[in-house]
Amino acid sequence: MKNFKSHYPKLKPNLLIAISLVLIVACNEKNITAKKSETLSLKEAFKNEFVIGAAVNDQLIFEEDSLGAKLAKEEFNTITPENSMKWMYMEPQQGVFEFETADRYIDFSTKNNIAFIGHNLVWHSQLAEWVKKITSKEELNASLKNHVQTIAARYTGKIHGWDVVNEALNEDGTLRNSLFLEKLGPDYLVNSFKWAEEADPKAELYYNDYNMTRKEKRAGAIELVKMLQKNGARVDGIGMQAHWGLTDPTLEEIETSILAYADLGIQVMITEFDITVLPNPWDLEGAEVSQNFEGSEEMNPYTKKLPDSVSTLLAKRYKDIFSIFKKHSDKISRVTFWGINDGVSWLNNWPIENRTNYPLLFDREYNKKPAYYGVLEVATDSTL
Ligand code: G3I
Repeated sequence: MKNFKSHYPKLKPNLLIAISLVLIVACNEKNITAKKSETLSLKEAFKNEFVIGAAVNDQLIFEEDSLGAKLAKEEFNTITPENSMKWMYMEPQQGVFEFETADRYIDFSTKNNIAFIGHNLVWHSQLAEWVKKITSKEELNASLKNHVQTIAARYTGKIHGWDVVNEALNEDGTLRNSLFLEKLGPDYLVNSFKWAEEADPKAELYYNDYNMTRKEKRAGAIELVKMLQKNGARVDGIGMQAHWGLTDPTLEEIETSILAYADLGIQVMITEFDITVLPNPWDLEGAEVSQNFEGSEEMNPYTKKLPDSVSTLLAKRYKDIFSIFKKHSDKISRVTFWGINDGVSWLNNWPIENRTNYPLLFDREYNKKPAYYGVLEVATDSTL
């Protein structure tokens, strides 16, 4: 089930020693007095459990964000492009593919021995405008096939796995009425997986979605994978995006979901992990969603700094969740964070723009947060 590990090249021992030395030297006085485990990177700490990844952006790949690039190389053994391989960027005009940026991502991962996850081939969002204007079923089918196969074929042998289809489900577990479903029916799902496999037989193929811990959606995702398998499509893994909060979903929901997906006999992956610490306007009972919360202190309470009390809660939440991941590490092949540090997280702009969120393990200055140490503790605590 855990093909990921066997594909991922092991770090050479001398490289590990070098990384450890660099980290030790770089430690400030406070860190030097801290635990031995701090000299371990995330990828090293969890090397017997699963690979650890991050979503990365163009600034990092082009090394304009040199600190981000350094962190990516030191801490993570897999990366996912946050935006740049989506349809609107890869094929902005019909049949005209823009490979330049994507090639740089692949080069970065190859050069640094980091496994690459392609994100994504088929998604109703961030589509190119021309696709939305297609009216005939035949043309849409041919365009979808060409998109999937041209991109998958280009990166054969250089990509570990593809999010072949992203977010095809509604919250109640039924199929989302996307442009693809509307015109092509559920065949588009089966065909997309088959086309991807044909173009790059060695890449792993995943279905990826959010809210995968909710009961109805979970049932829908399981049904979807079974439908794909029954129709002869190869599915290697299921991606639980994991855009979670401080209390939701519950630990029970997370564990139940991991076990339910693993029962399909495929890899379970945590693909877009982050934990928002900010209030969600949709939680406010009776609140009108269209209400403008911009500039509202109530909705953006930590503009200067995250209070220690919340930082501690976040660290505990990460620790609790990672304890579940570790417990089921025979079923989980990868845990990817959606971003390198708090400053670049999409959660600063969603669901309200221009807020200051703190959802990841590294702060805006690229320092390790208490949440980082919470996660690392799980790796080193043999009782967990
Ligand atoms: O690049 C333009 C910039 O030129 C422009 O000035 C600016 C003005 O808004 O927009 C920039 O584009 C933004 C882009 O991110 C790059 O930063 C888009 O507006 C913004 O919508 C886009 O958001 C991305 C979102 O997907 C789009 O759906 C997020 O960064 C990205 O993290 C997010 O990732 C998705 C996964 O692909 C699928 N799962 C959910 C996840 C979170 O939404």
